[in-house]
Order: sequence, then C-alpha cells, then structure tokens
Amino acid sequence: MRIMTKALFALRMAPVSLLVFLAAFPLAGAPASQPILAPTPPMGWASWNHYFCDYTDQTIRDQADALVSTGMRDLGYKYVIIQECLTTGRNAGGSLILDAKRFPHGMKDLVDYIHARGLKAGIYTDIGPNTCAGKPYQGSYRHEDQDARTFAEWGFDFVEMDYCNRPKGETGRAIYERMAEAIRKTGRPMLLYICSWGNESPWTWAQGKAQLWRTEGDISGEKNHVDWEDVVTNFESNARHAVFNAPDSWNDPDMMEVGNPGLTPAEAQTHVSMWAISAAPLWAGTDLTRMDAAIRALYTNAEVIAVDQDPLGAGPVRVRDYGAGIEVWAKPLAASGSGAQAVMLVNLGAATAEARVEWTDLSLGGFVAVRDLWTHKDLGAFRDGYALRLPSHASALLKVTGAFDWSRGATYEAEWPGNTRTGAAALRPCPECSQGYAVSLRGAGNAEVASSLTFRHIVVPETGKYMAHLVYVYSGEGRHAVQVRVNRGAALAIKLPGAIYATAQIPVELEKGENSISLSVAGAETVTIDRLRLTR
Ligand code: GAL
Repeated sequence: MRIMTKALFALRMAPVSLLVFLAAFPLAGAPASQPILAPTPPMGWASWNHYFCDYTDQTIRDQADALVSTGMRDLGYKYVIIQECLTTGRNAGGSLILDAKRFPHGMKDLVDYIHARGLKAGIYTDIGPNTCAGKPYQGSYRHEDQDARTFAEWGFDFVEMDYCNRPKGETGRAIYERMAEAIRKTGRPMLLYICSWGNESPWTWAQGKAQLWRTEGDISGEKNHVDWEDVVTNFESNARHAVFNAPDSWNDPDMMEVGNPGLTPAEAQTHVSMWAISAAPLWAGTDLTRMDAAIRALYTNAEVIAVDQDPLGAGPVRVRDYGAGIEVWAKPLAASGSGAQAVMLVNLGAATAEARVEWTDLSLGGFVAVRDLWTHKDLGAFRDGYALRLPSHASALLKVTGAFDWSRGATYEAEWPGNTRTGAAALRPCPECSQGYAVSLRGAGNAEVASSLTFRHIVVPETGKYMAHLVYVYSGEGRHAVQVRVNRGAALAIKLPGAIYATAQIPVELEKGENSISLSVAGAETVTIDRLRLTR
C-alpha cells in the first residue's frame, strides 16, 4: 500500500529510537523469479538406511508398490530414491555402465515402473570419481554433464550427490554447481540433493541450484539400525540453520530410520515429530513391505505430515529449554504471526517429567486452542499455557491456535531465502545479527541497477497502519538513503543515520493478507540489513 507521512505518524508514536526522513523517490526493478521445484519438503522412500547395497531391482519395485498400497504415495511420499552401488564403470565414451546383475532390465525400465505408479524416481552419485562405496562405483567428477544427461535419459526426477573422495584442489561447491548447471542444461526438472553432510554450508549459497542439502553426517553408520543419540544430534544440528528453510530451500537432517531396529516406540514417534517440526524432507528408510501397524501409523499420520508440509516451510525454534532435557520447540504455520503454530514438547531426559509450553513464548495471548496431532484430539482452550507429563524420550506434537500478539510483533529475517535479492545484494555472516546472518545492500551509483532486498510473505490480519522496525548495521558517517517500497506503492527515500547497529522505525500501511516490503540502495555505500520486525 503506501507509507504514511511522518507528520501523521508522529502524532501516534511513542519515543522513536531514530528519526526517519521520508521523501518521494521513484524506484524501478522487478524481482527475479524461477520455477519452484520443491514448494514443500520432498517426501518418499530411500534405499540406503535399510539395505545399504543389499538390494536388487525387485527390491525397488516392491518398495514402489508398497508406497502405493500403504497409502503413503497419496499422503505425499512420491520419490523412490535408489542409493549406491549402481554402476560398474564407464565405457569408452565415458558413459556410465549400469550394474547389469543388479538391474537386469536396465534403468529406464525400472524408472518407467516407478512412474507408472504415479511416483517419481531418484538416483545417486558423488562429487568424486568414485562413490562412498568405492570402486567400481562411479561418481560424477568431470562427468557432470554426461551423467546429468544419462540421468535425464533414464527419466530421473531427483539426483543425490554425495561428498566422498573429493578431489584435491576442488571445492565440493564448485562440483555441485557444475552438476546444478548440467541438470539445468538437460531441460529435465530434476531436484538436486547436496549430500555434503553439512560441509561447505550449502544453505548459504545453494538456493536456485539445489533444492535440499544435508546438514549433518549420516544418521547411522550401520545398516538397518540407528541409535537414539544420533537421531537427536541430527535434529539439533539441522535446527541450527532453520532460518534458511523455505520453499526450494530445505535443510535435510537425513533419511528417517523409523521401522529399523534401535529405537523404542516413543523414540520412533519423537523421531517423526522432530522431522515434521523441522520441515525436513521425509524419507522413509525402512522396508515398507514388512512394517507393522504401529510403524505404518507413524509414517502416515496426515496431521503430522501437514506440519512438515506447511506451505510457509519455517524451520523449528527452541523457544524454551527447561534443562534436564525438557524442551519446547515451535514453528509458525502458514505465516509468521498467523496465530497458528506447531509445538513439540519433548523429554530428552532419562526420567518422566512435566513439560509445559507458555503462550508468551509463542507471542500468543488469551485462550489458545490446543490440538494433539498424533491422536487427532482437540484438547480444549487454555489460558497461559499447556502442560503434560512425558516419559523419557517421548514427545507431544501439538497445533496451537490463538490471537497473535502484534504489540510484540512478528520478525522477518533478511536472510530468509523466501525473500528476493537483486543486484549486488548479498548474504553475509553477521555475528552481531539475529541468526548470525544479514543481507548487505550496495548501491551502484544509479537507481536502475540498485541492489534490493524484498521481504516477502508478510501476512497481516487487518489493513492498517503498522510500524516496521528495521534493524541494520552501518559503520560509516552521515545519513544513507535507502528506498522503501511497500507492495506496489511509490518508493520513498529514507535516510538511515550512520550507526554500528541500529533500529529505524518506518511507519507503513499494509493490506490484510500478503504484503512485501522492498529496500533498495542506489548510492555507493553499503547498508547491511539484519531483520524487520512489524508491530501494530
Ligand atoms: C552417505 C550419504 C547417505 C548414503 C551413503 C551411501 O555419505 O550421506 O545418504 O547415500 O553415503 O554411501
């Protein structure tokens, strides 16, 4: 909509930390856009955790059939990922030679079988000359284009690229970027899964190239077995990068082990709750043809899956740590400030204990409705908070719905990948900033090629006046002009006083529903944006 005049605003405002000067200023430029391949975290089945290399063509067909017969496909588990031990070498032309013993009908035939069941197919390769399983299995090093073409010809929809045997003198990033470009050139939409176990921090650079990336080492080094401690480690490690979760930008804590030996029933359920609140890609890593009713129930709870697949794609935040392993994790659903959140109460400790979520930790007020997603039960509306007793390693996954407290405000991080950056706008580490990152805006001296950052998906409950608290870092002198545009309104120039770390208050008028706020710098100086907080 439009930005209120300062005079109008001054009448209503409490003390402002910095004065903001507004002047009309034209702004050009449209946000870059590209097709979204994974609007929500991809889901499916993957072979490695349960089988390692002990599988055949028939194993894959049976699991594809099981995805259909168990109802998992219709709940979103669409990808069938074939990992490791695929090839025996390369021919004289450098093309992959498939292991003919394992795949007697060829790969195209198997992929067709998967597709015929309304599923998608995924394959595995590596950044090195050989995969993690070693010789004779082929990685795609210096064969990125050729292998991407082969995968496309076979009909694949997904490529996992592992991180073993990285050649000296090359970064994994360079090889992943070559593969991303090779995939793009095939013209076939294939997701790229960067499986670098968290190395080289792909969440900071892989958007627009890959759609998902591993944040930790393998959840288990053992075939068909997992330890509880590793489930917790991978969950916590993944959550450190939660701010980088967004459509087409998925942090992956690894394939699930639910159904494989090593976990108690409570631990297996918590494993799924952790993955769901993480908006993690959901890969069933067990034998789906033999799972019992309890395991199947863990994979197929539609309300739990809906938390994972929520369109906002937010990652989890630990909102309270009571010590002794009692923790409260939450993530907003649909939009920041929507009033609906998923909450996981978890007991990582050794003894049964009470766990409690406080509404103030979620910026919710009044009576808040609580629904237990695992049991599909509305538990009632509660004032202040909700508590329950949890046995060791058990958890509750709740949906809570209440009035969002706009006087405290909703926060939008500059580095969130759902925002749009143009020109020289760049992500940069910022230790003093929230979540450790910021976006720097550098002007190029003229408005046509200015750097811009557009905060997207700002959803508010009512049309009206809001206060945008812009947190920025700038270490220079004087005032620096930033152009601010709300939705399609006129751009206004705002002078940000030079400061090390400051908050400027910008009155804005927003529309009920979706809004965007663009910031752009046309001068030669750099202004670094940490975050925006919006209050009423
Ligand atoms: C690991 C990878 C797993 C699996 C395995 C196969 O490095 O993280 O997802 O693909 O290699 O060797």
